Amino acid sequence: MPTCVYIESLVDHVDSDVVIKGWLYNKRSSGKIAFLELRDGTGLVQGVVVRGKVDDEVWNAVEEIGQESSVIVTGRVKADARAPSGVELGVSAMEVVQAVDGYPITPKEHGTEFLMDRRHLWLRSSQQHAVLRVRSKLEKLCRDYFYERGYTLVDSPILTPLSVEGTTTLFSTDYFGRPAYLTQSGQLYQEAGAMAFGKAFCFGPTFRAEKSKTRRHLTEFWMLEPEIAYATIDDVMDIAEDFVATVIQRALVECDAELTSLDRDRAPLEQITAPFPRVHYDEAVKLLQEAGEDFAWGSDFGAGHETLISEHFGKPVFINRFPTKIKPFYMEPDAERPDLVLGCDLIAPEGYGELIGGGQRIHDPALLESRLAEHGLPAEPYQWYMDLRRYGTVPHAGFGMGLERLVAWVTGRPHLRETIPFPRMLGRLEP
Ligand code: 4AD
Ligand code: MG
Repeated sequence: MPTCVYIESLVDHVDSDVVIKGWLYNKRSSGKIAFLELRDGTGLVQGVVVRGKVDDEVWNAVEEIGQESSVIVTGRVKADARAPSGVELGVSAMEVVQAVDGYPITPKEHGTEFLMDRRHLWLRSSQQHAVLRVRSKLEKLCRDYFYERGYTLVDSPILTPLSVEGTTTLFSTDYFGRPAYLTQSGQLYQEAGAMAFGKAFCFGPTFRAEKSKTRRHLTEFWMLEPEIAYATIDDVMDIAEDFVATVIQRALVECDAELTSLDRDRAPLEQITAPFPRVHYDEAVKLLQEAGEDFAWGSDFGAGHETLISEHFGKPVFINRFPTKIKPFYMEPDAERPDLVLGCDLIAPEGYGELIGGGQRIHDPALLESRLAEHGLPAEPYQWYMDLRRYGTVPHAGFGMGLERLVAWVTGRPHLRETIPFPRMLGRLEP
């Protein structure tokens, strides 16, 4: 019995007989010779079946089976310089595990809603497969970056009694008779983590009841959130910039095959090196006004404004020191400008929008207490958070990066819905 191998390692088995366990991705047949495009999750390979060279039973099965039939194929690996995988398989035998007829996703064009309704199957298509492989690799690169620098992973809870990023996007649920929410951000718990471990991070799902349809917002998305004790807004911009540049450069190497199959232009990614420009909010407003935008000081930037600003610099750009009114309760005021807070957002290039939001946190207990009240937040559930200011409070800072925004940027996908295996959006809870 020949050895069973994954398609990704076929190049190591040239001129040997092997067994592949997978599915039929596509088929062409001339009546005498059939070309089976086979996939097993690790790659694609063309299997060549010649009538008369295999049992009649196998030939008949080849003629009959449809797309996504599950098959176990035996054959001889042959080097083929023209094939993307570098090899081809001369099929000698095939066992049909299940013959499929009428797989709904055919090689023809389908609408996105049709495909999204069948997301559990669409994952098998080569483009979606490539995007999600990039996601998987980026998650590892992101975690590695912080592990390599001595951070401790402190998993934030998903069920929480607190709001972090305003109360309008909360998903609420009943927690044994008490109100609870799905977390909007793990930040507040990372602040406890930073005081315990010095440098902490979390990486998990976060939830926002985004009530409008946009290509940049999901209702469930993954956020990476580092938090550092004794750090300032400037430290956070230094860390975020090195993190993004490092991950992008590593991704170009690690995701080379996927970027090729996605036809992603690498040139704009190759240029992503530190430092990134740092623009004061006042300056960003001026820049927009000079570009003819009707933008008033004190407003928050929309997607169009972000694109304009990033195009101006041609690099990821930090906007820093925002009006207090448009930012959450926890942001440290700017000592020189009481109308501003020490927040910073990193805007990705090529129109991919805000990738990172972060900044320096309030460490003074009295100020934090009054900000909670000003924002109409109940004091009681935040008592543990106040403790962090009562017992050894220090300046500290951190940021949150939306994983799907990073995946969209690296893979060149305009819409976040293709960057997560099973997207959750306004109007979509299935599959
Ligand atoms: O700017 P945000 O709201 O910041 C926070 O949540 C902070 N508490 C993070 C921190 O400092 N620890 O969100 C951070 C990032 C955004 O820059 C964006 O990349 C992503 O999370 N994000 C979303 N991604 C997809 N869908 C949504 N609805 C998102 N909302 C935010
Ligand atoms: Mg933000």
